[in-house]
Amino acid sequence: MSAPPLIILTGAGVSAESGLATFRGADGLWEGHRVEDVATPEAFARDPATVHRFYNARRARLRDPAVRPNAAHLALARLCAAWPSPALLVTQNVDDLHDRVMQGSEALLHMHGSLRRARCLRCGAARDWDEDLSTDTPCPACGAAGGMRPDIVWFGEMPMGMDRIEAALAECGLFLSIGTSGLVYPAAGFVAAVQGEARTVELNLEPSAGTRLFDEAHHGPATEVVPRFVEDLLADLG
Ligand code: APR
Repeated sequence: MSAPPLIILTGAGVSAESGLATFRGADGLWEGHRVEDVATPEAFARDPATVHRFYNARRARLRDPAVRPNAAHLALARLCAAWPSPALLVTQNVDDLHDRVMQGSEALLHMHGSLRRARCLRCGAARDWDEDLSTDTPCPACGAAGGMRPDIVWFGEMPMGMDRIEAALAECGLFLSIGTSGLVYPAAGFVAAVQGEARTVELNLEPSAGTRLFDEAHHGPATEVVPRFVEDLLADLG
């Protein structure tokens, strides 16, 4: 088999078995918090302390030694490194579990931003960030206090890297959607954008909202279905 240009889209399900909560369903982050209280620019303008508390807690989870990349993150890193054609891993996740096993690879794109980056609303500078943020945190670049926010895409904001993603969708020959409910756009629309041009595969615990749009689906935990699928794909390459 020849290797077509590859796009992998991942969501919270890929990190669930690493101990990070997904958004929807029982125990999901959006069961315990209202989106409009913690994940919109309006929420940050109204009550930045509450927004910081929410993201500080999520960032702190990444410092827990028990939270580490799982077999699905490892298999996807291996797939991107071994794939002989262009490969782009677009993640909706703001955790850093793909990053930890992809060694700074250009193939990884965080379309919803990253918990481990912060941005200043005053000067616009964005940088790596590991500590808690507060309403007093000064910007290391311009010194202004009160304007530091998580470098995360909130509801109502434009996802990151869309030019690059749209260019890759136009060339895509194999599209994998992994651990995402298919409810949040624009990511939920990627499968329709490549339909008829690319082989499309869903790998998810259960059928997603868009499952009927895929050519094939493999349902089960990511740590089982993803490594198996990747091994078969690489074996087919010969
Ligand atoms: N293996 C595979 N899939 C799993 C697993 C697992 N172990 N556990 C859960 N899933 C699946 C669920 O069945 C669900 O379909 O992962 C999906 C997670 O869906 P969501 O919680 O909606 O997460 P996601 O699709 O990433 O959300 C998209 O919504 O609120 C926003 O910005 C947030 O990036 C996020 C976006």
